[in-house]
Amino acid sequence: MTEPRETDQDFELKLLLTAVEEKYGYEFGSYARASLMRRVRRHMQMSGVEHISDLIPLFLHDESAFAAFVKDMSVVVTEMFRNPDFFKSLRENIVPILKTYPFIKVWHAGCASGQEAYSMAILLDEEGLLDRCQIYATDFNDQALRHAKTGIYPEEDMALYEENYRQAGGTKELSKYCHRGYDSVKFNGRLAEHITFANHNLVTDGVFGEMNLILCRNVLIYFNQDLQNRVLQLLFDSLCSRGILCIGKRENIQFSSIGDQLEVADRNQKIYRKKI
Ligand SMILES: C[S@@+](CC[C@H](N)C(=O)[O-])C[C@H]1O[C@@H](n2cnc3c(N)ncnc32)[C@H](O)[C@@H]1O
Repeated sequence: MTEPRETDQDFELKLLLTAVEEKYGYEFGSYARASLMRRVRRHMQMSGVEHISDLIPLFLHDESAFAAFVKDMSVVVTEMFRNPDFFKSLRENIVPILKTYPFIKVWHAGCASGQEAYSMAILLDEEGLLDRCQIYATDFNDQALRHAKTGIYPEEDMALYEENYRQAGGTKELSKYCHRGYDSVKFNGRLAEHITFANHNLVTDGVFGEMNLILCRNVLIYFNQDLQNRVLQLLFDSLCSRGILCIGKRENIQFSSIGDQLEVADRNQKIYRKKI
């Protein structure tokens, strides 16, 4: 009794994902199965429908229903100087390499609401590198990108951000880089001047050329192994010779085709460097 229902569900899911891909160009078929199903079920519940296939006409004819699904598929949890040890390692081990370049291109792939990119701009500013840096921060979630561009975050998050910044080796006050208003803080426009926020889908869009440093942290975990491999190849192809790739703590390159073309810069912090 359970077997055929599973098969029906798989078939309906395939139809839904094909319809979505045909109409909107989003490929969710290679996202980690369990989290994809959780979100599909949630949208069935929200829309009061019984079958996965009932979502097909809804997503095709109601763009706002589909936009809500995309938003749900995109987990935008992030913070300033997230995993401070990682930023400390960047400062200690990678900044000296960056200092040897006349111009530095950095790509944050899957930047969510932008805190990681502002953290990078602050770190590079403190190391005297910001003026020769261009930071690209991309995501496939337009709402997150709109937020990122404002550089405005809740003031109540500042205590955590200050603590992260300090643990990451920051020697000033993080509040020096923003001004307060009502219940929020806005990071200085001077930082944003060096950041270009843009829509880029890691599943369907192409390489971002000749980057010296790429951060793609806490994004690959949402993809199945096959898609992780494809995206890692895309990131690798976007690096310049001897470029540096950073992934999230719970992610790894071991099983990917690029694994043996990278050397370890910091094993614990998952920082790698192109061998040639
Ligand atoms: C958990 S956040 C990570 C944010 C930041 N990198 C960090 O570590 O704090 C994951 C981000 O990946 C983005 N994402 C998921 N799938 C994507 C795709 N196919 N292309 C681009 N971004 C994607 C989501 O929209 C979300 O903003």
